[in-house]
Amino acid sequence: MKPINVGLLGIGTVGGGTWTVLQRNQEEISRRAGRPIAITRVADRNLDLARRLTAGQARLTDDAFDVVRDPAIDIVVELIGGYTVARELVMEAIAHGKHVVTANKALLAVHGNEIFAAAQKRGVMVAFEAAVAGGIPIIKALREGLSANRIQWVAGIINGTTNFILSEMRDKGLPFETVLKEAQQLGYAEADPTFDIEGVDAAHKATLMAAIAFGIPIQFDKAYVEGITRLEAVDIQYAEQLGYRIKLLGVAKRREQGVELRVHPTLVPAKRLIANVEGAMNAVLVWGDAVGATLYYGKGAGAEPTASAVIADLVDVTRLHTADPQNRVPHLAFQPDRMSDLPILPMEEVETAYYLRLRALDKPGVLADVTRILADLSISIDAMMQKEPEEGEDQTDVVILTHQACEKDVNNAITRIQVLDSIRGQVTRIRMEELKG
Ligand code: HSE
Repeated sequence: MKPINVGLLGIGTVGGGTWTVLQRNQEEISRRAGRPIAITRVADRNLDLARRLTAGQARLTDDAFDVVRDPAIDIVVELIGGYTVARELVMEAIAHGKHVVTANKALLAVHGNEIFAAAQKRGVMVAFEAAVAGGIPIIKALREGLSANRIQWVAGIINGTTNFILSEMRDKGLPFETVLKEAQQLGYAEADPTFDIEGVDAAHKATLMAAIAFGIPIQFDKAYVEGITRLEAVDIQYAEQLGYRIKLLGVAKRREQGVELRVHPTLVPAKRLIANVEGAMNAVLVWGDAVGATLYYGKGAGAEPTASAVIADLVDVTRLHTADPQNRVPHLAFQPDRMSDLPILPMEEVETAYYLRLRALDKPGVLADVTRILADLSISIDAMMQKEPEEGEDQTDVVILTHQACEKDVNNAITRIQVLDSIRGQVTRIRMEELKG
């Protein structure tokens, strides 16, 4: 049967992996897709690299627009990244009636509503399995595998760089800055790691998962984003002593009044499987009312793991492109005219449990003052730990774990605790998730 023609935009790490895996598994893939999938055109600024990889088997150009406008191309694979040129290319591909496969979470998190609306109008597919958690088929699971469920929450370790850093900080007791440098030397962190360490990359992915889990528009601008740059090794140690690990979690939780959408360092009980996801690995835990908890684990980045997701999308598009657009799987899992207007809740309305670390004078009445403030705000204490003061010191660390409380009340409590005479410096606050049903 005649192959379906793919134009590949970017033959770097993921593009190279896509080329290699498609070549290696072509026979098996075409048995699944029903016809061969052929990358017939490749656009990359580095033509030498493209030439080396493709060895004369694809037509090369350094002008990606030439590929998206090529009438012979059926599917465009966008692996360029970023918001500007990638957006123009994707919109141009759609305008030319091409289906699009992309790994670009930043683009979809920021411009996804516009892109999916244009694709819907033009009757083409935009597939993005590779945009969230690399090789883990979490988009497919949320969009199709769990479609019987009312999904209640999704919580994921969806950034390998930060999970690697947190694992190293815990294992070796090292500070963030030292481990970041090590991660950069090992190639786990980019030269400019801002998007990863500040939680932005995880927030892009959490935003996309929230949209398909709850059938809401993509609303990255409403996500709460806090990275790991201010996390101290001492809190990782104390959390461990209390039976918790600290992970950078992307959380999307449905509540009656709205959706919580947040990324921040989080204490997770050490006995949960997800708390034991170490190094650069990713994992996503999803809770649906019928199925309960399901956990997805695997490599969230890298050439072939990400190519695995890109090619799965190519197979899907190949199978479905002749179907009536009305009968395809909706881009965001729910029919576009049946989206929910459930708002994203402001962070102040979020309800979760908390870890609070205070530096307190070791004298009578200090804890009574602190617990009175918490009690006045109806914040219930779950556990407390006071460390022995160091030799010759009159201050010590006190750690308090709270039950579920409202962020607004906790903010208020922290403000009041910090002005007590017996408290030194700032209160450290880290959110905590039990991740039970
Ligand atoms: N930079 C990401 C990570 C991979 O560290 O997981 C691509 O999304």
